[in-house]
Amino acid sequence: MRLLKRPRRLRGNETIRSMIRETSINIDDLIYPMFVVPGENIKEEISSMPGIYRFSIDNLLKEVKEINELKIPAILLFGIPSKKDELGSEAYDENGIIQQAIKSIKNAIPEMLIITDVCMCEYTSHGHCGIVKDGYVQNDETTSYIAKIALSHVIAGADIVAPSDMMDGRVKAIRDVLDENGYVNTPIISYSAKYASSFYGPFREAAESAPQFGDRKSYQMDPANSDEALREISLDIEEGADIIMIKPALPYLDIIRRAKDTFNIPIAAYNVSGEYSMIKAASQMGYIDEKSAVLESLTGIKRAGADIIITYFAKDVAKWLTIL
Ligand code: PBG
Repeated sequence: MRLLKRPRRLRGNETIRSMIRETSINIDDLIYPMFVVPGENIKEEISSMPGIYRFSIDNLLKEVKEINELKIPAILLFGIPSKKDELGSEAYDENGIIQQAIKSIKNAIPEMLIITDVCMCEYTSHGHCGIVKDGYVQNDETTSYIAKIALSHVIAGADIVAPSDMMDGRVKAIRDVLDENGYVNTPIISYSAKYASSFYGPFREAAESAPQFGDRKSYQMDPANSDEALREISLDIEEGADIIMIKPALPYLDIIRRAKDTFNIPIAAYNVSGEYSMIKAASQMGYIDEKSAVLESLTGIKRAGADIIITYFAKDVAKWLTIL
């Protein structure tokens, strides 16, 4: 058979394959999420997320040193407070768990880029991401708290703040308060298209942040919507977001691609806890090969258009890419 076009010609060996490869994962693009708890000498594994731990600050510092040695440029910090209340008041306490963790990391490993998740659900007794009145999460009241929380993180030394609450207008509220306090150069990564997803399940165990009543569907997005994601993203860009985020990643690759094609702004994708746990569980059962499944998933997220990936696999990937 005489065939003019044979795409297999360019797949014959690894040299030619790597020469025409369109997408690659770089350690520089990875952000590693971490959980910090009060206390000393704590390193508790999260049962639904094998290999991921809650650390007290002393052990967190050891871990961040290792992350720095692996050349992972940034961490995303989540705090779990000693006590929760209706207003989530430890979230903006200058001596709160997250503020202490930020100061300690900046002191010990100043080159590590610290991004903080700005939200209330880990800090509120009801587990919702804002102020609840009559069973409804109040929007405008919540944004003033979100701004206060973000400012407290930046005062403690956070390099970037990442609001994940999904209230309307929170990016503007944060930008205003940071600018008023002289932090004009602190970027905001906005969780712009954050879906009400069942893939956050393991995270809620890790952060003890499951809502005590109802669900998050009155503020997080409906998984069925795509045009709405573009509206959310354009609002956040207008309000001053520097980087926008889509979350989760794998079930929403189409949203990442649409965002990439529509907006000229860096895009982050959050490869969330449930996406991590699925691969972990399947590989522990021997159903799939962990390393190739992880690299394929992250390649897919980049190919879809993400510039930055937040992933619990960041340490593994850094090791794999360095050994290769
Ligand atoms: C806080 C927050 C959540 C996640 C990141 N920030 C949980 C939620 O919204 O319920 C999920 C991250 C993950 O699943 O890895 N609002």
